[in-house]
Amino acid sequence: MGDNIRKTKEYFDRKSEKLEKIKIEKQNNLVKTVKWAIENKLYGVVLDIGIGIGGSFYYSTENVKKVIGIDISYLSLAKAKKIDKFYYIACSAYQLAFNESLFDCVVLTNVLHHFAGDSLEETKENLLNCFVETKRVLKEGGKVFIVEAFCNRLIEKMESSLYKIYFKIVKIFNKPLIYYFSFYQIKEILSYCGFKNIVFTHLKDKNIKLCPFDATFGLPLRYFGLNYILVEANK
Ligand SMILES: C[S@@+](CC[C@H](N)C(=O)[O-])C[C@H]1O[C@@H](n2cnc3c(N)ncnc32)[C@H](O)[C@@H]1O
Repeated sequence: MGDNIRKTKEYFDRKSEKLEKIKIEKQNNLVKTVKWAIENKLYGVVLDIGIGIGGSFYYSTENVKKVIGIDISYLSLAKAKKIDKFYYIACSAYQLAFNESLFDCVVLTNVLHHFAGDSLEETKENLLNCFVETKRVLKEGGKVFIVEAFCNRLIEKMESSLYKIYFKIVKIFNKPLIYYFSFYQIKEILSYCGFKNIVFTHLKDKNIKLCPFDATFGLPLRYFGLNYILVEANK
């Protein structure tokens, strides 16, 4: 396991309960937007990648047979509510612990920015591995739903060229690095993995606060040059 993945895991092991509290108290728009974006679209057997402690707050499971939530943070899963239809398994998005063609839908909400690795190359490889694995476990025609903040090309260039420096600074503070992908990168990698019918929908709530930092200080996502987007694609 790379250094940054280990730090991400340890961060969520330590902080998931506190983060969940911030989410409910200060990121109400975020919760509502995710719910609105995906809940009527899910069906059958659903895999929720990076479910953390709170994925179950986001959508009703009326049309869903069951939800398998996975996460690298075992301690987050241990604190997740044990509610009807939800089952939790600790594993990584880069190596899913399932046979192929098992799921009707795969959901990734607010997870991709945590795929930062110890280098830019590793970060891109992590994203690729996640999509290869997602496609493998989806049934033929199954759907992936990604709700995520994506950056524009300018921020992407800045993030890429400053990656090494950014990594070193974050390391000093013993925090995990995050990396925002641009939607061009996502589209490119989804297409490369063979996903079809890729559709992007802007989730237009301009006051969404994504991270504990901006939620705590009341700064909306748009101040950081990010757009909150739903991506849908078929296997
Ligand atoms: C910001 S939280 C989002 C939780 C939930 N999906 C939501 O929207 O509230 C990100 C979650 O992704 C998990 N995560 C990060 N990298 C992961 C990976 N490689 N595999 C599985 N889970 C991962 C973290 O442990 C954390 O629980």
